[in-house]
Amino acid sequence: MLFVYNKFMIDPRFKKVLFTREELETKIKELAGWVNETYKDSDNLIIVGLLKGAFPFMAQLIKDVTVDHIIDFMVLSTYDGDVKSSGNFKVVMDLVESITNRDVLIVEDLIDSGLTLTKTMEALKMREPRSVKVLTLLDKPIGRTLGFKPDKFGFEAPDEFLVGFGLDVKGKLRNVPYIGVFDQKKLSEV
Ligand code: IMP
Ligand code: MG
Repeated sequence: MLFVYNKFMIDPRFKKVLFTREELETKIKELAGWVNETYKDSDNLIIVGLLKGAFPFMAQLIKDVTVDHIIDFMVLSTYDGDVKSSGNFKVVMDLVESITNRDVLIVEDLIDSGLTLTKTMEALKMREPRSVKVLTLLDKPIGRTLGFKPDKFGFEAPDEFLVGFGLDVKGKLRNVPYIGVFDQKKLSEV
């Protein structure tokens, strides 16, 4: 019964659940449909996941992608102390594969200010890919300081501290199968 699931299975450090496991699965199937349609004529697709946050999303996504493709990952860092997205950007781990002449689909968990994606696009476009598009599970347009727009997003997210399904708090709780609003008063309990 759903109410039993809700009552007993939600981590008490969350204020509320925004997207359940089932809602995420349904939405991600729909997003895979978009990938299949967008790349139906591509013979050279590479799907690039931005670690660590995008890994549960990407794992779920590719199960319903029917266009042949290869995958790769990057680790980026935009950490800048307590000043939110003020410009520091570093490629911590680069792609293994070449993207020259390939159709590149970047898969991200959440776009906030847009800094991560703006910088990533800049870096990748210098390698002369055939095309580059961005698919994000969550879009937080209220946080946007750079005029970045993804080609496709799953859900619009509120201006809250979201955790679960790849999104972390202190590096933890990425394993939670839903996405919810974390209770900031419970930070010391992580
Ligand atoms: P941006 O560079 O400001 O667009 O930030 C995007 C990155 O910050 C994403 O890769 C997310 O992993 C992370 N991020 C932004 N908002 C949240 C949040 O509410 N919870 C967890 N991670 C977040
Ligand atoms: Mg991230």
